[in-house]
Amino acid sequence: MTRIRRLSALVANQIAAGEVVERPASIVKELIENSLDAGARSVRVAIEQGGVKRIVVQDDGHGMSAEDLPLAVSRFATSKITEAQDLERVATMGFRGEALASIASVARLAITASTGSDAGATLVVAGGEEVRNGPAPHPPGATVEVSDLFYNTPVRRKFLKSDRTEAGHVSDVVRRLALGHPTVAFELKHGARVIERLPGTPDAGARVARVMGDEFLAQAVPVEASGAGDARLHGWVGLPTYTRAQATGQFFFVNGRAVKDRLVGHAVRQAYRDVLFHGRHPVFVLFLELDPAGIDVNVHPTKHEIRFRDGRRVHDFVFASLNRLLREARPGVEPAPVQYGTGSARERPALQTSMSLAELIAGERGDGAQGSRMEAPAPAAEEGDTPPLGYALAQLHGAYVLSQNREGLVVVDMHAAHERITYEKLKADYQAGAMVAQRLLVPVSFDVTPREADLAETHADALETLGLVVERQGPRSVVVRQVPSLLANADAESLARDLLSEFAEFGSSDAIRARSEELLASMACHGSVRANRAMTVPEMNALLREMETTPNGGQCNHGRPTFLVQSLAEFDRLFLRGR
Ligand SMILES: Nc1ncnc2c1ncn2[C@@H]1O[C@H](COP(=O)(O)OP(=O)(O)OP(=O)(O)O)[C@@H](O)[C@H]1O
Ligand SMILES: [Mg+2]
Repeated sequence: MTRIRRLSALVANQIAAGEVVERPASIVKELIENSLDAGARSVRVAIEQGGVKRIVVQDDGHGMSAEDLPLAVSRFATSKITEAQDLERVATMGFRGEALASIASVARLAITASTGSDAGATLVVAGGEEVRNGPAPHPPGATVEVSDLFYNTPVRRKFLKSDRTEAGHVSDVVRRLALGHPTVAFELKHGARVIERLPGTPDAGARVARVMGDEFLAQAVPVEASGAGDARLHGWVGLPTYTRAQATGQFFFVNGRAVKDRLVGHAVRQAYRDVLFHGRHPVFVLFLELDPAGIDVNVHPTKHEIRFRDGRRVHDFVFASLNRLLREARPGVEPAPVQYGTGSARERPALQTSMSLAELIAGERGDGAQGSRMEAPAPAAEEGDTPPLGYALAQLHGAYVLSQNREGLVVVDMHAAHERITYEKLKADYQAGAMVAQRLLVPVSFDVTPREADLAETHADALETLGLVVERQGPRSVVVRQVPSLLANADAESLARDLLSEFAEFGSSDAIRARSEELLASMACHGSVRANRAMTVPEMNALLREMETTPNGGQCNHGRPTFLVQSLAEFDRLFLRGR
């Protein structure tokens, strides 16, 4: 029989370090957070060899006394909370009292600090053992130096990537923390090279511009909303037309702490859902401020995750605030001129689509129109029977319909147009409580997670009002028996899978009802003509006529324009005719 033995402090700390210290960037995060908690106005970070060789973080915060140094590196010692109740309203970045102890167990650590009322002291720890402890001059503040990361845990060292990659992660951490703390100055050096230099500023916008680039602010809408009790949401959300292929430009701070929260992530995604092009990721910097009592930060050692006490309310507040803004922000064909100024006078001119469908339909006389594409001469009266979007001429690369109208050439994005039409029809059917559906001749069954199978069962009614009949077949399989007629040609499996994963993200029946439009929008994607489908001229004309009668026909569900018009006058100018 194997007896139970108590682990040594070093091993216990190394195990704890496994969660906190993954790579140099995690150390930099912990050290900067300590500096911020110490009220630093300036934080200077220097790394060598991606931080594996050396990390130095120097601050001008309140520092530490000689007596406190040994405590700082011992586990469960913190100056930030004293009793369990304090956990209910943590206002500092740290509170677990374990970061320095964990770091000291997997690297060599030296802290030199002064509170300002003493001359300074230093403490050096290696392998969990004190190596040196004594006076050392230091200005008010602290300098923490970490070297030879994982020197005593070679297995973990093997997981580190190249110096460049590790330095990249460090830079991401510095930038993220800097976004959350604009008034603090930051500097990051890799070897002799300065990678970031961010002066402290009272203007959060100026910091955002420094970190994200001026372009982002020019292409973003400012957010300022309050609600859900005393919560405040502020920051910037990128226009639906300003997106990235990866979710790398997304920053969400809760009380200054950068968090990755599923609930909030979902709220933001939902807000963009109706206006964002598929597969693209929005860019945003958002700050949510709320009473610390409303969140639990003690969820994970890295503190990237939090728990909201009233998650539903926070979700709805974030969703509603952003959704309204994003719907009002019209995407443009031309990017807005860069207009980043100073202070808060950062007004962005309203963006225009090439020409709105409503304008086109509402009798287009060409006067009062703005923009080069609108300078078409007034159409002759006898041409009055040409429909606004004209008649189809041809299809371009299986993706665009070319059509001739009175102004000139209309180019329609088939997929976007069809998606909007399907969405509006689904919505009308749904609102009338009469979703037209059809039984599948061959029901489609497929495997799901037990949770999804449960969801299919619990939300059978919700699915049915959306036109689907999905039945549970076993612990981990379901069968689709019916889909909306408008989506008869869609892939029933992926349609049902999408809905189930939506349900999983936001499961209550109420929430599903409240989010019916988003669900319909995602359903519409499934039923729309994919690019590269050949269309006949009558089919194309049918699409054009449907667009003319569809609400919001000028914009697809994801905010892209569905068509643009190039006037004959514009062509004349391009070909230098009449000059
Ligand atoms: N740069 C600093 N300036 C002043 N005091 C510091 C600094 N870094 C650490 N300390 C002190 O050392 C203590 C231990 O730091 P450590 O990071 O290990 O724990 P913590 O910040 O309290 O909690 P967490 O483990 O959640 O980070 C802190 O509570 C703080 O009092
Ligand atoms: Mg800490």
